[in-house]
Amino acid sequence: MQIPVKKWYDAIYQRRSRRQFNGRELSTDITSHLEEFSKEINEYITGVKAVLVNENPNQVFKGAIGSYGSIKGAPAYVAFVGNMEDANVQEKVGYIGEGFILEATSIGLATCWVGGFFRKEVAQKQVQINPNEQILAVSPVGYVDDKYSLEEKIMSKFAKSHNRKSLDELCVTEEKNWPSWVQLALDAARLAPSAINRQPWRFSVEDNNIKVSADSLKDSYHISKRLDCGIAMIHIEVGANHGGVKGRWSYLEKPDVALFEVI
Ligand SMILES: Cc1cc2nc3c(=O)[nH]c(=O)nc-3n(C[C@H](O)[C@H](O)[C@H](O)COP(=O)(O)O)c2cc1C
Repeated sequence: MQIPVKKWYDAIYQRRSRRQFNGRELSTDITSHLEEFSKEINEYITGVKAVLVNENPNQVFKGAIGSYGSIKGAPAYVAFVGNMEDANVQEKVGYIGEGFILEATSIGLATCWVGGFFRKEVAQKQVQINPNEQILAVSPVGYVDDKYSLEEKIMSKFAKSHNRKSLDELCVTEEKNWPSWVQLALDAARLAPSAINRQPWRFSVEDNNIKVSADSLKDSYHISKRLDCGIAMIHIEVGANHGGVKGRWSYLEKPDVALFEVI
C-alpha cells in the first residue's frame, strides 16, 4: 500500500475527536470506499485489521462510558482487531487504526478513538474474530455539525484535548537544527491522539532516524501506551514522507517502541 501522503498530512491537521454525530447515514459509495480501503490496509500490516460495521453503535457505547463523555448518533463504527499472539499487536493496532482514521477524516467523516470504555461483548457479536484475536479499540464513524455540542465541549475540556506538550518536552535528544523532514515528522507526531490525551510518546532524533519510546512502562485506563505510540508512528511517517523522505520501521524492546530509519 502507498500512503496517500498529501491527504493524510492535511487530515492530521484537521482531525479532532468528535462524540456527537448528526445521524446522517453513510452512502453506499462511502461504505464501499471504506471497505475497500480496510481490505488494502489489512493486507499491508499482518496480525491486525480494521473492520467497518455499518450499524449504529449505540449498544456498543451504551452505559459503558462512565464519566468519559458519551458517543451519540453515529450511523456506523470501525473495530480495530489484533492477534494477541503478535508481540507488537498494540503498536500495529495504533498504526493501522490511525491510518483508517486519517482516511476517514480526509473524506469528511468524523471519528473518535475509544479504547477502554466500550462494550466488547456487543462489538464481538458484530465483528467476526478468531479465538486468538481481541477488539482493542473502536471508533464511531459518521458526520458531525461544525459546532460542538455542550457535552462535547465539557468532554474536550476534561481531557484537555487541544493541549499538546512542546517538542522540548517530548524529545529526549536536544534539538540540533533538524532537517526539515524531521521537523515535519515531529510536528505531525505531536498532534497524534492518545488516550486521555496522555501523550506518552517520546522521540529521540539521531542522524537519519527517529526513535519512538513510551514515557514509562506503566499503562493507565487499561489502554496500552504502545497503542498510542503506534498512532504517533503513522504521523511520523506521513510527516517525513511529506518532507520527501521515505523510511522503514523496526520494532524495539520495551520501553522503546520502534525506530524509523531513512531508506
Ligand atoms: C487509544 C485511545 C483511546 C481513547 N479512548 C477514549 C474513550 O474511551 N472515550 C473518549 O471519549 N475518548 C477516547 N479517546 C480520545 C482522546 O481523549 C483524544 O484523542 C485526546 O483527548 C486528544 O484529543 P483529539 O483527539 O481531539 O486531538 C481515546 C484516544 C485514544 C488514542
